Amino acid sequence: MQATWAGGYSAELPYLPTYISAQAPAEMAMACALAGVRCDLPREALTLLDLGCGRGMGVLSLAAANPGWTAIGIDYMPAHVAEARGIAAEAGLDNARFHEADIAALDEAAAARLLPELDVVTLHGVWTWVADPVREGILRVIRSRLKPGGLVLVTYNALPGWAGDLALRRLLRDLVDSLGGPRDRRMAQALDIARGLHLAGAASLERSFFMRRLIDVPPNAREAFIRYAMHEFLPEHWRPAFPQDVAGALAEAKLDFVGPAFLAFHFPELLLNPAQREAVASLPPGLHPEFQRDLFTCPTLRQDVFVRGRRPAEVAGAVLGTTLALRRLPEDRRVRLDTPNGAAELPAPVINAALEALARRPHGIGELLALPALARTTAGELLTMLVGSHIAAPVWRDAPTPAMRDRAQRYNRVLLQQLGADAIAAGGELAAAVPMLGAGLAMKPVELATLLALHEAATEGRAAPDAAAIARGMLVAETNAETLAWTEAAVAVALTERLPAWQGLGLL
Ligand SMILES: C[S@@+](CC[C@H](N)C(=O)[O-])C[C@H]1O[C@@H](n2cnc3c(N)ncnc32)[C@H](O)[C@@H]1O
Repeated sequence: MQATWAGGYSAELPYLPTYISAQAPAEMAMACALAGVRCDLPREALTLLDLGCGRGMGVLSLAAANPGWTAIGIDYMPAHVAEARGIAAEAGLDNARFHEADIAALDEAAAARLLPELDVVTLHGVWTWVADPVREGILRVIRSRLKPGGLVLVTYNALPGWAGDLALRRLLRDLVDSLGGPRDRRMAQALDIARGLHLAGAASLERSFFMRRLIDVPPNAREAFIRYAMHEFLPEHWRPAFPQDVAGALAEAKLDFVGPAFLAFHFPELLLNPAQREAVASLPPGLHPEFQRDLFTCPTLRQDVFVRGRRPAEVAGAVLGTTLALRRLPEDRRVRLDTPNGAAELPAPVINAALEALARRPHGIGELLALPALARTTAGELLTMLVGSHIAAPVWRDAPTPAMRDRAQRYNRVLLQQLGADAIAAGGELAAAVPMLGAGLAMKPVELATLLALHEAATEGRAAPDAAAIARGMLVAETNAETLAWTEAAVAVALTERLPAWQGLGLL
């Protein structure tokens, strides 16, 4: 049964632990830089609120990476809040706070009692899933608590991208209403029936992007996928939205549109072919630029950054002022960005020079452009390719202290213990806290376990263990040979691809 306090949202089962890199103020600052918008967020005494924070991994990872911040999560599911508070307490994060509250019930006085003035508000997977009174509560909180110049990230299911899935959603909801038994079992059955109809050639499901994901779910990730589908499809008030309508609604809270958090969206030449660009250029003035582009690219999820009071900044200065650190050294040494217009790729000499520099230490964009091989690369293109392909990430503070690192690693250990099994079941990643980035860094559980084994050895003054020893340390003694071999191979890949990045990020 739907809970009566849930206001039409599907609050029966906990959501998955998720984190998106756009939640980090450092990533929002890059969107500002590319859009030519001034961003003066404080580095060390920042206050951040995540509305509808779910399992709380975003708030926890940001609090763990930034001891001087206050990171606050609000969610009305008590199971979410209890778990997040437990992790914060175990990891000693006195700067992470969680409130169990219904956003719809937050008037200005309640918001002022609960919250300090805020520099950043994030909303991931909430806006298009909730009823109007909740949206009004969101606007009230932002209007009354966000500082002038503060930033907001809103992610939402977008139109026209979702148009091809409207029949699938209706089908799943009607099936869940009509079948018997617990609702998660009904959802499992409904997904099977929908897949059967798709295979039988139902034209209404042909353009569904979700169906493609459904077909690709590996059997061991099915349970987690069902939970995800319940949060995605069952909320009664779910409405995907056009970007101009979200921007219009947020203007009520004095927010101005900055730009997409997906950096590639700042470059029409990466997204549209020449004929498409010409068609867009010939449109009459007045249409929202994101809508014009989405008519061609049809993203299903948008991640948009807003500012309370847009002030111009010089694009070149802001982009050149960004420092990048390596996240991953790809084995094939390629830097590729998938876009609706095909894959964009940096030429080999540029990649090799950039990767070689970043593997030694973090570099400013200006420093990278001074390398002879990069003479013909532009600052925005370099930033977008390296960050968009998850090869590099923006640095938030140059020299985190060893105390910051050890605090973050204590949290990372608790994170792995508490949420590792869930992440494995969902085939997902965990956001390890990284003080240099002031942000979480997505890692597979096996990668995080490898990092922690190396950190423990370094702390105890032991030599770094090899892949076989690290893998053995992760598994119980009676593990079969096949699992041991698989784990050892995964650790070896983590060491090749991640170790230089972990060293450059000051995690070891
Ligand atoms: C799709 S989940 C996203 C969770 C989280 N932001 C993430 O990305 O993992 C939506 C969240 O919004 C919360 N939520 C929905 N309606 C709410 C309300 N009226 N007040 C507070 N939280 C709400 C749900 O409990 C759920 O955790």
